[in-house]
Amino acid sequence: MNDQAWGLRELVAKKRTQNSKFITIASGKGGVGKTNFAVNFSYVMANEFAKKILLIDADIGMANIHLFLNTDPNKNLKSFFAGAKLEDVIQEAYGFDVLLGFSGIDELRELDAFSVQSIIYDLDRLSMDYDYVIIDTSGGVDEKVMSFLRASNKSYIITTPEPTALTDAYALIRSIYNLYGYERFKIVVNMCRSEEEGQTVFNKLQTTVKKFLGIDIELLGILPYTNSLPQAVRNKELIAMKYPKDIFTASVKRICEIEANVKPSQGEDENFWQKIFDFMGK
Ligand SMILES: Nc1ncnc2c1ncn2[C@@H]1O[C@H](COP(=O)(O)OP(=O)(O)OP(=O)(O)O)[C@@H](O)[C@H]1O
Ligand SMILES: [Mg+2]
Repeated sequence: MNDQAWGLRELVAKKRTQNSKFITIASGKGGVGKTNFAVNFSYVMANEFAKKILLIDADIGMANIHLFLNTDPNKNLKSFFAGAKLEDVIQEAYGFDVLLGFSGIDELRELDAFSVQSIIYDLDRLSMDYDYVIIDTSGGVDEKVMSFLRASNKSYIITTPEPTALTDAYALIRSIYNLYGYERFKIVVNMCRSEEEGQTVFNKLQTTVKKFLGIDIELLGILPYTNSLPQAVRNKELIAMKYPKDIFTASVKRICEIEANVKPSQGEDENFWQKIFDFMGK
């Protein structure tokens, strides 16, 4: 790394404040409700809890947040890496900001160390303006998803009561714990038919994780199955906005309430973007 790049790194370290929180939303199995949770969580946090939110669509394979939010898919990180200003690729949707598509990150391999440091500097500077930076990932255990999980001070793992979703959630937790010793997992059980079902599913996961890995995980919330959600998705609407009284919306609000009351601890967000780029081997 050249001297200029080191200079930038130091500048970032000096300027950094502790006011942002990085939350990565992941799952073992795909299609368990990550994106729907991410957009509705962002909406409620922004509009009911007055939090400044940046939602990042890091779904590498099939980025689809723009379908829910009516944002322009061509304004994305790829254009930023190609030289567009970060401010110009951030889009506003329903009271919060959105940054689309992390697929362009592969092109970073072409960039020199100084350019990469400049990008990290910009992302760092941007993140400081937000109370929360929420990262929606693709399902499965992939190098990039793992990088986001490892760098985040909080990871929400979404599962459903379906046995395969539960097995895959455990496999994801096991991989990150075994490889990196990461253990800050909060669990959301989605598509539950009752509170009891959600609790039973969490207990099963907790018991397995404790027995085989020896660590504790936390139940963040239980989200009910609701017919209003597929309906809202079909109409490209946010359930939290369209159906504020729906049981799913109420459960998302409960999670927001819990999260909004957690104070960030000193130093926990340090070097988030630097870590991401280091983990991805840039
Ligand atoms: N609580 C729920 N009640 C009813 N249907 C739901 C619920 N949560 C999710 N779904 C359905 O599951 C579908 C998939 O949800 P979503 O796209 O949020 O999953 P995902 O985990 O982001 O998927 P991917 O892994 O492909 O990114 C939604 O279109 C919706 O129809
Ligand atoms: Mg998704």
